[in-house]
Amino acid sequence: MQFLRDAGAVRRTVAAWSAAGDSVALVPTMGNLHAGHIALVEAARRRVARVVVSIFVNPTQFGPREDFAAYPRTLPADRRLLGAAGADLLFAPGVKALYPHDTHRAVTVSVPGLSGELCGASRPGHFDGVCSVVLRLLNVVRPEVALFGEKDFQQLAILRRLVADLQVPVAMACVATVREPDGLAMSSRNQYLTPAERSVAPLLAETLRDCAKRIAAGRKDYARLERDAVRRLRAGGFRPDYVAVRTANDLARPGPDDRRLRVLAAAWLGRARLIDNVPVSAGSRR
Ligand code: PAJ
Repeated sequence: MQFLRDAGAVRRTVAAWSAAGDSVALVPTMGNLHAGHIALVEAARRRVARVVVSIFVNPTQFGPREDFAAYPRTLPADRRLLGAAGADLLFAPGVKALYPHDTHRAVTVSVPGLSGELCGASRPGHFDGVCSVVLRLLNVVRPEVALFGEKDFQQLAILRRLVADLQVPVAMACVATVREPDGLAMSSRNQYLTPAERSVAPLLAETLRDCAKRIAAGRKDYARLERDAVRRLRAGGFRPDYVAVRTANDLARPGPDDRRLRVLAAAWLGRARLIDNVPVSAGSRR
């Protein structure tokens, strides 16, 4: 696996692959890789000849009081994992390579509406930072395909709108959430949990699954279901930001005839902010 920090060198490498007829995929990450990230690399390998993974802890998507400084950085271990998973190139740029004019004077892109809701309501500016860095990475690597996890479902929906609206020539692909055996969605932030918190953490996924089951069985009183789920999480020791039932394709509030839905949540447990979501097909009873 090649390892590059320089954007120009990445461009030249990918251009040579493309000239040789090889298709290229990009898997953007912030590192501290786990089985969820590796599932993206494996899905990419099944689709294209060459897989590029980026590791960049993007400062512009962290709020001033968030965990940018504390975010786990484990490059040597990440390199080994990616080599074993069959990635062709690891791109690990420094801040200057992606933000040549510094982060506070950087050109930013923003998807209006959805970026201010759900996670965007508690993390102002977060999704603008995500969009701004992903567009830069797409412009450096110019992949045919970019892969993202359903774990960050709102991020995926916002990035789909970004590339559609700006006519970015890339196919967006996604991979289902990879979970621990007890149901907790894998996340770099799980390591902020104490052993006691870790033992109650699966309640988040369980609460979402139960809510989805009720919807599948025909319940349509979504606001009530959301409130019940928030209450259950609070009783379990979480501090929920939200639980929301939304349409799967654009994360709008569902009407009675919407079938393909998603139940999403964000909740603090100790110093970890955990997010999760599950799919559901609305049932027809009631
Ligand atoms: P990061 O949290 O490192 O996640 C990188 C990719 O891995 C994202 O597409 C995310 O949805 C996916 N992922 C994380 N946990 C997963 C799991 N348990 N199962 C499946 N996929 C999972 O998301 C980001 O980084 C950043 O916002 C980024 C897009 C790289 C922009 O900075």
